[in-house]
Amino acid sequence: MTDSRAGGGIKGVVSSGTAAEVLISASEIAGRVEGLGTELRELYADSPEPPVLIGVLKGSTLFLADLVRAVGIDAEVDFMAISSYSASSGQSGVVRIVKDLEGDIAGRDVLLVEDIVDTGLTLTYLRRSLGEREPRSLRTVALLDKAARRIVPVPVEFRGFEIPDVFVVGYGLDFMGRYRNVPDLYAVRDLARLANDPTLLVEPFFGLDGPPRA
Ligand code: PRP
Repeated sequence: MTDSRAGGGIKGVVSSGTAAEVLISASEIAGRVEGLGTELRELYADSPEPPVLIGVLKGSTLFLADLVRAVGIDAEVDFMAISSYSASSGQSGVVRIVKDLEGDIAGRDVLLVEDIVDTGLTLTYLRRSLGEREPRSLRTVALLDKAARRIVPVPVEFRGFEIPDVFVVGYGLDFMGRYRNVPDLYAVRDLARLANDPTLLVEPFFGLDGPPRA
């Protein structure tokens, strides 16, 4: 595999023996995003109005930014933010909108852009909420599909990659707010170690300039 990190500002290579390894490289992601962009451009070519790409904050932001350019037709962008639920607290499926769309999507072709679909609970809620606003069409594109974790079946019309049940960071996905700006997607090998020290990957990802380790 070529080292696509060289141009991405990431100094260290996280190798075996460390807490994370590359699952999908930045160049593999870029290639897949181009492919999705082509499919979506053809799908929306005859739309009466520009499609609205809706990013779900915050994880989808990098994917959305790349995807909307790859689609390459007249399109609008809007965002939603939702509260997290805790599967262990017995509140599975309890999702609350904390930032709603700015625009009206009635009669519009809507594409919901997610970084990852895991249990499917968030997407189920969002599709129901958006569907009630009577868009002309409603589809989902997810960069990552962790299908093995699905609790609720939910349509995902376009997906970048199906991944195994591993914890991932990078390309928008975080651990406690960190690592979204890592260009490659990494699988965390030792989540307990990272939970014990959330700065564990700062040095391998960003070099010695990162915050001091605890
Ligand atoms: C992630 C992701 C989805 C959701 C998927 O968001 O962006 O919205 O989890 O999980 P589910 O299929 O089990 O419902 P997260 O809560 O991590 O927030 P973030 O995007 O701000 O990191």
